[in-house]
Amino acid sequence: MSGHATYQPTNRVLQWLEKRLPIGGLVHSSFIAYPTPRNLNYWWAFGGILSFMLGVQIITGIVLAMHYTPHVDMAFKSIEIVMRDVNFGWLLRYLHANGAAMFFLAVYIHMFRGLYYGSYKEPREVLWILGVILYLLMMATGFMGYVLVWGQMSFWAATVITNLFSAIPGVGDAIVTWLWGGYAVGNPTLNRFYSLHYLLPFVIAGVVVLHVWALHVTGQNNPTGIEPKSDQDTVSFTPYATIKDGFLMVCFCILFAWFVFYIPNFLGHSDNYIPANPAVTPSEIVPEWYYLPFYAILRSIPNKLLGVIALFGSIGILAFLPWLDTSKVRSARYRPLFRQFFWLFVIAAVGLGWLGTKPPEGIYVILARILTFYYFAFFLIVLPLLGIFEKTKPLPNSISESVLGAKA
Ligand code: HEM
Repeated sequence: MSGHATYQPTNRVLQWLEKRLPIGGLVHSSFIAYPTPRNLNYWWAFGGILSFMLGVQIITGIVLAMHYTPHVDMAFKSIEIVMRDVNFGWLLRYLHANGAAMFFLAVYIHMFRGLYYGSYKEPREVLWILGVILYLLMMATGFMGYVLVWGQMSFWAATVITNLFSAIPGVGDAIVTWLWGGYAVGNPTLNRFYSLHYLLPFVIAGVVVLHVWALHVTGQNNPTGIEPKSDQDTVSFTPYATIKDGFLMVCFCILFAWFVFYIPNFLGHSDNYIPANPAVTPSEIVPEWYYLPFYAILRSIPNKLLGVIALFGSIGILAFLPWLDTSKVRSARYRPLFRQFFWLFVIAAVGLGWLGTKPPEGIYVILARILTFYYFAFFLIVLPLLGIFEKTKPLPNSISESVLGAKA
């Protein structure tokens, strides 16, 4: 669907360029004339919001890097200087820190949308897997960025998370030493995290290009989950999708601004305003909210190695989703049983997030085990079996029929 299409520039400079590098035609066919299903709802606006947030993170990050010093003696102080002395440094930092949280909020909505409407199913498997890779890259980038602050929580999060690799039998300790660049989290660790934290967003940007390319090959899914069959089923991307995406982007920015200007430290941990001190362990080590469900899964399992396997397994399993879900029907609209299990899954994910903030003892551990069990059962038992046993609702004949009624 991407390509040169009907683009005819009237301007002579653009005509000249188009003969040599047909970039105008590519943009036109991908973002203007591109046919999108006419029934897309606001859940389809989050891909655009994510692309926007990636831009915000890269721009604010580049400027922050101009003032940051990746050395254990100066990192914390350089951030305090950004906050107090650099013109609008506080704004840059709060945009970047809260921007990361908003980025994750958007990606979770984007992923749950995909899950609800079956957007991962044939022929969109590669598109989905590229999404899972993006998610992993986002997690790695966010983690390393948090360490750069070199506060107490940064230091201890880096210690706890890198130490997970020591659970690997035989080579675990050697891997941890290699990750640290020494025998403890220290200057080489901070330096390499800085280098990678700068690099990965550009890798993310590259994978986003592949993600959107794959999207433009298969076309978008839509709330009915059935493919467009005629011109009646689609509208052009511009103005319909651009206006709708733009509107939600503005709403999203209002929420973002509310965090930045009114509660900029709401999502952070106060211990990270204490400089890193390897001699003092904080009373509680809590990751940022967007990692909490996985932290709860890790801690729900008493054996360290099994806990680490469950942690990585809980993310890795997403890549197999297109094959674990055996149902021919995509959208949850026509899958009454799936819909109930889906909402239970949302509750389990949020519940695990809440449990990630609680100490791993008593009732909290029991609850975390139940929810961890459901998390995996959803993928490994519920989805494969539902495809066989679920009685789905009748699908409309076409997208336009679902919008305009059977007469259309
Ligand atoms: C940096 C992160 C990401 C960016 C910038 C991004 C961007 C986009 C864009 C622009 C779209 C088209 C608009 C839309 O459908 O919302 C899209 C669609 C899609 N994305 Fe992402 N995405 C990201 C992460 C992810 C992740 C983590 C997943 C899943 C694990 C994912 C899965 C999908 C799927 C399945 C579609 C097709 C949806 C459909 O047509 O129904 N994406 N993405």
